[in-house]
Amino acid sequence: EKGGYEHFMLKEMYEQPKTVRDTLSPRIKDGKIEIEELGMTDEEIRAINRIHIVACGSAYHTGVTAKYVFEGMARIPVEVDLASEFRYRNPILDENDLVIIISQSGETADSLAALREAKSQEIKTLGIVNVIGSSIAREADKVMYTWAGPEIAVATTKAYSAQLIAQYLLAIKFAAARGRITDQEVEEYLGDLKKLPDQIELLLSNQTKIQKFANRYIAAKDVFFIGRGIDYAISMEGSLKLKEISYVHSEAYAAGELKHGTISLIEDGTLVVAVATQEDLYKKTVSNMVEVKTRGAFVMAVTNEGNIDIEKAADYVIYIPLTNKYFTNSLAIIPLQLFGYYVSVGKGCDVDKPRNLAKSVTVE
Ligand code: F6R
Repeated sequence: EKGGYEHFMLKEMYEQPKTVRDTLSPRIKDGKIEIEELGMTDEEIRAINRIHIVACGSAYHTGVTAKYVFEGMARIPVEVDLASEFRYRNPILDENDLVIIISQSGETADSLAALREAKSQEIKTLGIVNVIGSSIAREADKVMYTWAGPEIAVATTKAYSAQLIAQYLLAIKFAAARGRITDQEVEEYLGDLKKLPDQIELLLSNQTKIQKFANRYIAAKDVFFIGRGIDYAISMEGSLKLKEISYVHSEAYAAGELKHGTISLIEDGTLVVAVATQEDLYKKTVSNMVEVKTRGAFVMAVTNEGNIDIEKAADYVIYIPLTNKYFTNSLAIIPLQLFGYYVSVGKGCDVDKPRNLAKSVTVE
């Protein structure tokens, strides 16, 4: 049951610190990452040529984030595909490739079909799955479970957070096995990961502030989410969280792409949510914020603690605690989940069961 929370979604958002801890801790032993279920030796990890991450919806968004992490840390090329596209595009797969299928339910029809496509070409497959014994868990060569427990709300929150953690662990493990990072760097990354649960807790405690802000946007027509790199991936998930439960139209844009079309949609008062957690891209995103602000947009920014100069380019700022640049999604998504949730609540929508959607999409 809802354990005193008004909705399952709220309960599940609050379970995220525990979910992150549960997905992390069984896989850290004596300061090292052990993913027994992966069943791969360091030699086999070194032989991986390319990774294909295939998923739908929010699970796909975690894959978009993971591409930056795998490529940045381990220098392994990664392709991320929507399962509904991958299965029909006659993908080029090589015997040294690894196909990772990500799914909370383990029953998503397109993701399952993508898995079968990879298996039919005899390519190694790994499922990152939440529901134990589900179809994808049974059929993938190897399974890494996300220990999020049952997720009831249609809009995913805690399973999303767990999927990110599982992929961070894989990326660190792969980077170490391939000699791309030192033992000390592994230790530092793990130290940052272990801090995430408390940091998420802190961000969740902002709920009243975000609820007040969200109430101003229950009549919004369009909302735009912008960011670069991992911040773009966060934007995609923030946008989906808002639209799927509140029916407010929203879109995510790579910030640098705005002036190639979308900027013409900005009117007086249009809400633009800018995510700026990547320090090397920070100045570029801030200049995009200025561009939309001068055209009348109301800018809400999500950035790292300490970046107070952002207040010149934003009307409303949410600061996230400091973490490694690869892990910021795990923190920045929390206020965006809360924002989507409270717009939906403010509009009186059926938060846990939005219209036209099902928790597990078993049709194509
Ligand atoms: C959005 C959401 C969906 C799912 C997608 C994949 O909040 O929940 O976009 O992420 O339908 O579902 P799974 O992970 O079960 O394959």
